[in-house]
Amino acid sequence: SKVVLAYSGGLDTSAIIPWLLENYNCEVIAFVADVGQGDEELVGIENKALESGASSCYVVDLKDKFVNELIAPAMQAGCIYEEQYLLGTALARPVIAEAQVQLALEVGADAVCHGCTGKGNDQVRFESTFAALAPQLTVIAPWREWSMRSRQELLNYLAERNIKTSASATKIYSRDANLWHISHEGGELEDPWEQPTDGVWTLSNSPQQAPDQQEVLELEFSQGVLTHLNGQALKQTEALVMLNKIGAEHGVGRIDIVENRLVGMKSRGCYETPGGTIWYQGLRALEELVHDRPCQRLRHDLGQRLSDVLYDGQWFTPVREALVAAVSALATKLTGTVRIALYKGNVTVIGRKSPLSLYSEAFATFEEDEVYQQSDAEGFIRLFSLASRIRALKQGGMA
Ligand code: ARG
Ligand code: SIN
Repeated sequence: SKVVLAYSGGLDTSAIIPWLLENYNCEVIAFVADVGQGDEELVGIENKALESGASSCYVVDLKDKFVNELIAPAMQAGCIYEEQYLLGTALARPVIAEAQVQLALEVGADAVCHGCTGKGNDQVRFESTFAALAPQLTVIAPWREWSMRSRQELLNYLAERNIKTSASATKIYSRDANLWHISHEGGELEDPWEQPTDGVWTLSNSPQQAPDQQEVLELEFSQGVLTHLNGQALKQTEALVMLNKIGAEHGVGRIDIVENRLVGMKSRGCYETPGGTIWYQGLRALEELVHDRPCQRLRHDLGQRLSDVLYDGQWFTPVREALVAAVSALATKLTGTVRIALYKGNVTVIGRKSPLSLYSEAFATFEEDEVYQQSDAEGFIRLFSLASRIRALKQGGMA
């Protein structure tokens, strides 16, 4: 039989290959999703997989799909989990798991396998995608089956089989990197009272290290799609790479939170989402101009709903389709330009304009105007406050 393993090149999935060979007596096909995790993880990964015992290794570039089909709609919706987390890991999972299923079907595999622990969200995200797209496939989750618990045990397991690895016993943090973010969990972060040490952060400058000069950026959007950066036309993927670089330099997009995992426990994580933080703020600033109050409230509510759907790994469901359809209807108004200043971790919107702007200086001005009858306000307020007036009159025995 054949198993397609979601392989990262790290210690866990490296040990999974021989473990599958021995325990399932199967052929192991390594599947590597390139979601922008970078050369450090990807260079030489095919050889690594083969040396660990895989029969073949497929590396699939999913970066544009990740950005255009997951990140962009999530940004239009304003997805942010528990007020702070831009969902960097959760957003990548449907793309990775879907491509893994596609490969499994192409090669005629019987099973799919992942290296998620049995304690987290990622197992749910992978397996919910498998269930939705290919329920006939067997799912193998070694962390829920084997008795190994520590990195040292995994290293011993590989050493006994003469499989080389560059992994060390003392890797402190569990990290997950892609084009959108990097997450850091474990180590001293497991105590929510401990401040993250400098060794936690890998992508961005601290605000203290960031330049003393602010940098001003212009982001242009067309119907919710990021099209230009400082006047230069770019694909969204290219724009994100640039935003990440500039944002990271200015210390933008670091968060340190305690979050509610789907499986019930709280976990503490640090996340770096430099470009995403700028992208998110840019669209919110544009919304202020082009959406009326009901549309802004609706977008906010839809964003909350879609955040939970994403976090919980429910991308391949009718509720996600409906939410994304509603969000993209609202996003047809998101056309315009936002000017943003970056300075020592802060993202400040300093200008916005749109051909679809509902802002009218003629109406809003504090100077003399010709369009607004101040006297109209009197009747409006009398009716708007009628309930308050009746209540007060009743309480005073006057009605
Ligand atoms: N807690 C975050 C989430 O659930 C990050 C998970 C990181 N995953 C990992 N395999 N290191 O989305
Ligand atoms: C894992 O458990 O594999 C990582 C953390 C998570 O999925 O929440």
